[in-house]
Amino acid sequence: MKKDLIICIAGAGSTYTPGIIQSILSRYEQFPVSEIRLYDVSQKRNHRTYVIVEYLTQRLNQSIKLVETTDPELAFTGVDYIFSQIRAGGLKMRELDEKIPLKHGLVGQETCGVGGFAYGMRSMVQFLDLVKDCITYAPDAWILNYTNPETIISEAVRRQFPSAKIINACDMAISISKTIADIYDYDHDGWVPTYYGLNHFGWFTEVYDKNLDKDVLPEIIKRAQQEGVWLNEGDDSWKETYVNLGRMIQYFPDSIPNNYLEYYLMGDEKVAKADPSYTRANYVMDNRDNYMENFYQAILTGSKKDLEAYSMENEIHGQYITDIAISLHCDLNQRFNLIVPNKGAIPNLRSDAVVEVPAYVSAKGVEPIALRHEISDFHKGLMEAQVASEKLWVDAFFEQSYLKALQAFTLNQTVPSMLVAKKVLDDLIEANKGYWPELK
Ligand code: G6P
Ligand code: MN
Repeated sequence: MKKDLIICIAGAGSTYTPGIIQSILSRYEQFPVSEIRLYDVSQKRNHRTYVIVEYLTQRLNQSIKLVETTDPELAFTGVDYIFSQIRAGGLKMRELDEKIPLKHGLVGQETCGVGGFAYGMRSMVQFLDLVKDCITYAPDAWILNYTNPETIISEAVRRQFPSAKIINACDMAISISKTIADIYDYDHDGWVPTYYGLNHFGWFTEVYDKNLDKDVLPEIIKRAQQEGVWLNEGDDSWKETYVNLGRMIQYFPDSIPNNYLEYYLMGDEKVAKADPSYTRANYVMDNRDNYMENFYQAILTGSKKDLEAYSMENEIHGQYITDIAISLHCDLNQRFNLIVPNKGAIPNLRSDAVVEVPAYVSAKGVEPIALRHEISDFHKGLMEAQVASEKLWVDAFFEQSYLKALQAFTLNQTVPSMLVAKKVLDDLIEANKGYWPELK
């Protein structure tokens, strides 16, 4: 097994980077990284991460070569693994993705509905460039991708670079199953959940518990119906998504849904409750981003005592992608939920959809696990509309087609009519000038 690995974090200015790096460094025995390249288009944000990571590694007595760069050639040449989490347009554009749809009475969300599409268009532009650079400068490297919105990104990469060495992952499904296990007091390590869907759009239909040797999903659903789903930690908006997850179970007690389905199944209420002048992007800027900025300033100027108060936790987000990298690097063949071309994994869904299903990861890459049953008409219908809408959006990007873009919006389940679809599309085109290709 290769030692002295070089990795690159693309989109290193992200607030998630210190956590991902701490996860990676804590697993040195299985994943012996000796050099980390921090790469971002924003020199300022990249440098902020550099200073924080340098400080954290010194605090933990870790010896690592750390490089910061805005040059893709320097970033990728000779690297073994690339961890990508770019956010095209940054949090400022996320704010518009959330606020513009709300102005039209539509769900305004980072990855769902038309806001997610707006982000998707920016992401396709920048992410395909990134993949091209990775293939040019590091043709043997694996890309471990967290870049959102993941179904759109995966669909676009599959069309443009069908043989790219890329693994698309999202921490949401594991984060939900861990949270549910914690709430109802199960041992998550003994769980083998069956989850299927699209990214941020799926369901658990079985939770095999090795310790108890049975499927515990029916008893969890019962408890969720009786007690609700109450999260003890985290911020209010995540807590609310779990309450809503419980409410979705009340209505449809055949599965455990992904929280994000609230934007499709109860979008009217989400819109009614939203504050159109202060959305999640504002919260993230005022909290996570601000915390990182304060940490950075404290390192530059502060006393040792000030600094001790700061940490950037090694949480599920970082752990999950590190586990995937290790399964790949050490050929462990472990099971994860990943975003892959369907090709029959969900037997009664169109085979050219990009789906999120369990899959094994070994040195030779990803092997999806096919479901042993067909999915219900309810799930299938929801997914088919979503897949078609996303495919039209990806077509709109490749063909620079306004017609396809308008069809994508009109078909989206968060949009009530072609009239609203056109208005919001035109507003988003205006707001994304310079980021989107021109749609004709
Ligand atoms: C989860 C999802 C990510 C998403 C993030 C948003 O981790 O899997 O895809 O970007 O939540 O969290 P935030 O705190 O930025 O709203
Ligand atoms: Mn995600």
